[in-house]
Amino acid sequence: MSDPVVRPARKSELTALLALEARCFEQDRISRRSFQRFIEHPQDMLLVAELGDRLLGYILVLFRRNTRLARVYSVAVAPDARGLGLGRLLMLAAEDGARDKGAVFMRLEVRADNTAAQNLYQRLGYRQFGVFHDYYEDHQTALRYQKRIHHYHPLTGAKAVPYYRQTTEFTCGPASLMMAVSALDPDYRPEIDEELQLWREATTIFMTQGHGGCGPHGLALAAKRRGFEVELMLNQQGPLFVSSVRTPDKKLILERVHEQFLAQMAELGISPRYGNFSLEQLEQGLSRGRLPLVLISTYHLDGRKAPHWVLVCAIDKEFVYIHDPDIDDDAGESPVDKQYLPIERSRFDRLARYGQNGLRTLVWVYKN
Ligand SMILES: CC(C)(COP(=O)(O)OP(=O)(O)OC[C@H]1O[C@@H](n2cnc3c(N)ncnc32)[C@H](O)[C@@H]1OP(=O)(O)O)[C@@H](O)C(=O)NCCC(=O)NCCS
Repeated sequence: MSDPVVRPARKSELTALLALEARCFEQDRISRRSFQRFIEHPQDMLLVAELGDRLLGYILVLFRRNTRLARVYSVAVAPDARGLGLGRLLMLAAEDGARDKGAVFMRLEVRADNTAAQNLYQRLGYRQFGVFHDYYEDHQTALRYQKRIHHYHPLTGAKAVPYYRQTTEFTCGPASLMMAVSALDPDYRPEIDEELQLWREATTIFMTQGHGGCGPHGLALAAKRRGFEVELMLNQQGPLFVSSVRTPDKKLILERVHEQFLAQMAELGISPRYGNFSLEQLEQGLSRGRLPLVLISTYHLDGRKAPHWVLVCAIDKEFVYIHDPDIDDDAGESPVDKQYLPIERSRFDRLARYGQNGLRTLVWVYKN
């Protein structure tokens, strides 16, 4: 028997598609008009699986404008052709097509009682990240699945950067630094004791509501003390995060810590460079084997407006790739989701800024 072929649907296949839809779904069926529109609509993608001259399956992928999200709206295989790998073939072809159209994530919803489809998605690396209750005509729950379909392919000679997950909610800075150190020193083994030690060296003591995360000065000092070259860039002089705390005694402590950092930096010969950095500067530094810890605001990631350190690992024409040390287990995240996470260049430019004063800061870590 010949191999199955997956290709875009043709207008002449409308009747066959409708017949397939009727055999595969009891409700929420796609209408003839809709199928026709999807075939004619260049933005969406309707692919069919053909074996011999029989149309045995289809997949419909929708693209939301101005996002990097693609969505499997529907996938179906004729009942007598199931279990032959056609579902998988359709999904993979759809991922290829979506990737070619610039999508970074593929999403989909599936009925909670549809284990065949859930297995198919899980086997292909999709993970559940949400639930919609009362989603279908018969009030069934929908499980939301997602897969990152765009992956960073390191250029030859690019430094591989090991990933380290932060252990506490306030050690994103130490975890980012530890990832940089792991990349620069192959013998280095990141451990929780080192993560806590780095935090104690680099914390501003207070920050926003809770106790402090780490500031750029402290992180630069900690890296320098461990034998690395550092360069600290920031667009503000004076103590940072002061407006993020309320009481005068907390503000005073932030000021004292800042003075201590400056004195220690002077002793170790670190002079901050004041000004904004550009993506071009990030690119140049990375191409010289340097790694930048960048402070971002999580506002554009999860709406929380928290200051957060990430490590930038690579940049290409479209994306800045970050290792984000924070993994939200409750949201079903896993380390794969946070490694070489692609963020569009212009979006990253907006992310890399914190607070009302627009603090922009990074710490380069490198070896001579
Ligand atoms: C879901 C569907 C598209 C799968 O198509 P398929 O061609 O049979 O799937 P494949 O042969 O490619 O199987 C791929 C994987 O899916 C899973 N799977 C498929 N059918 C399964 C079943 N009946 N029970 C459990 N797992 C199943 C398996 O993990 C399988 O991998 P494996 O064979 O390596 O274990 C098909 O069952 C279908 O059309 N169902 C009705 C429509 C539907 O529910 N669509 C999805 C919601 S929009």
